[in-house]
Amino acid sequence: MGKIRTPDEALALALERVESTLFQVTREDVFPHAAPSTTGVWEGTREGMWTSGFWAGLLWQRAALTGRAEDSATAKTWSLRLAPHVDHHTHDLGFIFSSSAVLGWEIGRVPECRDLALRAADRLAGMVNPAVGVIPLGSQAEIAAGLDDVTIDCMVNLPLLWWAWRTTGEERFMAIGVSHSDRTAGWHVKEDGRIIQSTHFDPRTGRVTKQETHQGSGTEGCWARGQAWGVYGFAAAYRATGEERFLEVADRAAAYYFHRAGGDLVPFYCFDDPAKPNVPRDSSAAAITCAGLMILAEHAPDPIRRRSRDRAEALLSALVIGYLTPLGDDDRRPTGMLLHGCYNKNAGWHTDHELVWGDYYLLEALRAWVRLR
Ligand code: GLY
Repeated sequence: MGKIRTPDEALALALERVESTLFQVTREDVFPHAAPSTTGVWEGTREGMWTSGFWAGLLWQRAALTGRAEDSATAKTWSLRLAPHVDHHTHDLGFIFSSSAVLGWEIGRVPECRDLALRAADRLAGMVNPAVGVIPLGSQAEIAAGLDDVTIDCMVNLPLLWWAWRTTGEERFMAIGVSHSDRTAGWHVKEDGRIIQSTHFDPRTGRVTKQETHQGSGTEGCWARGQAWGVYGFAAAYRATGEERFLEVADRAAAYYFHRAGGDLVPFYCFDDPAKPNVPRDSSAAAITCAGLMILAEHAPDPIRRRSRDRAEALLSALVIGYLTPLGDDDRRPTGMLLHGCYNKNAGWHTDHELVWGDYYLLEALRAWVRLR
């Protein structure tokens, strides 16, 4: 590869990939989830899953870039198709609706999207454990076992609450977002910025009973995408609240990412797997981190603003030069694919794939780069 020279070219390729994805998923009537790096043929589900909002979000980002009414109409259709998920008891409500229905209001000014996003925010806020101030995963198995697992991923469910607060002025959305962020900072982010994925706690007292990783190696490996969710989530918490303590956490977590990612900057799925380098990389972790750093590059004061911008640009260039399929790719794969993402190495799920959320965050980062230049 290595034929893509500028983010402008990358932006054009990413949009082309949205087009080729739309062609396939419209024909098959599925939400895209993951596509093998070798073929680019999407696998997906008709009803959607935690990743499906990102597809609608790619369409909204395309509509924002093109300004075409027909692109907004397409994005609206896919967004509203996610409505049945609003009744599910899962922290994923944030992933699903902040990347779809929220953008449907913010970009498309579609009232049905605003209503759907507010219903989802209300459900997500209703999941908070009021004694402890956190939103647990919502897994029925965990609840039945008397355990409430909180994962670092949930920091990126909070943008739904930050948005609902801005939109309605209701303080409860802000209060839950702040208490969840404070708990997560204390529980999950270590002094050197390293992030642990999951915390089990006593739901009555908040006493921590166990910490572990589900998607990294062993029980304590530092899962690269968890690190990335942390960078993005605390950057978004800082943007929403202006609280410097969240800015400090985001910057500390980013420093740890750069300390461990290696020269390529696109990390292996886990920083600590002893089998490195013979393990998958996760390009989506780099894309999420890059988009989070772009938030800091746009909103933080110096010196963090400057440092974040340098880091974000380094990541963007690593991704577009090394991982984005260029025009006329030798393997005749679709152009604009973000190769080599890893969904879940431990479960054996999609370990060398293009991942729909990787594409989403790469496009978000590219749009931020255009605003900043
Ligand atoms: N939120 C699930 C994951 O990142 O795999």
